[in-house]
Amino acid sequence: NMQVSRPPLTIRLCGPRGFCAGVDRAIQIVVLALKRYGAPVYVRHEIVHNRYVVEGLEAKGAIFVEELNEIPAEHRDQPVVFSAHGVPKSVPEDAQSRSLFYLDATCPLVSKVHKQAMRHQRLGRHVVLIGHAGHPEVIGTMGQLPEGTVSLIETVEDAELYQPSDPDNLGYVTQTTLSVDDTAGVIAKLQERFPNLTAPSADSICYATTNRQEAVKQAAPGCDLFIVVGAPNSSNSKRLVEVALRAGATRSLLVQRASEIDWDSIGTIGTLGISAGASAPEVIVDEIIEAFRERFDASVELAITTEENEHFLVNRELRDIELTRE
Ligand code: F3S
Repeated sequence: NMQVSRPPLTIRLCGPRGFCAGVDRAIQIVVLALKRYGAPVYVRHEIVHNRYVVEGLEAKGAIFVEELNEIPAEHRDQPVVFSAHGVPKSVPEDAQSRSLFYLDATCPLVSKVHKQAMRHQRLGRHVVLIGHAGHPEVIGTMGQLPEGTVSLIETVEDAELYQPSDPDNLGYVTQTTLSVDDTAGVIAKLQERFPNLTAPSADSICYATTNRQEAVKQAAPGCDLFIVVGAPNSSNSKRLVEVALRAGATRSLLVQRASEIDWDSIGTIGTLGISAGASAPEVIVDEIIEAFRERFDASVELAITTEENEHFLVNRELRDIELTRE
């Protein structure tokens, strides 16, 4: 009988967790564009790195493409939305040359990093970008400046080996979703080697990344297992798994859906930490808590480190619909 045999479990549910203001805005833009212009609305790249979100929008009439040339000519009047991660300058240019109507869902905090990179360059500094090669945000930030004018640094080792041609004229920015602690190490190494390195005028790592990592750091010590709800291609979610392990969780897993959990491997646990990446919907957090409740006599305690009040307005074209939203 499952009822009597369920072992006790304490669930530490981290807050802040899940959707950030940039993700919320990007999803709103697609939903509002569908309302205003009707289906299909094209979206270049996964709007946010989450299958559940993407499939939900597909069901409403969004069509996801990787490149603009996949949009059929007869749909040229339908909007195409650029994802929250940001795009290289060549993408809106390409959209214009194809006479496409686009809505940019780049997170305002990513746009801010773009502006900082451009500012460094305008002031004669060579731009160093700290981030992960191949991530769409990194491709987008590098693509704000002419090819070959941004140096990508991924690790402390990269920072040790970096040989700039003008070491006294460097300015850095970072990806918004990096590990706060690892990035501090990379910056310290660069500063040690290049004392004139100029920082951006505001931190590139965003409030949501910082807050989610801090909450996990506080909750992880003493957790037998720490589950981060998020996708394998979500940078900020992967960082949360690393933070949990480093802060003392015995084991940490990145989980997209409850159905992915291998229950045989979970074993005996007394304390479970749960958080969610910035692109992970709360319904999946609920689903995972429910799955544990079926197998454990679980009690949930909240582990909240701060409150968030950020909200970003959608594009001007869509604001009037937002105001009359049901
Ligand atoms: Fe923006 Fe940070 Fe979210 S950059 S999309 S608020 S993770």
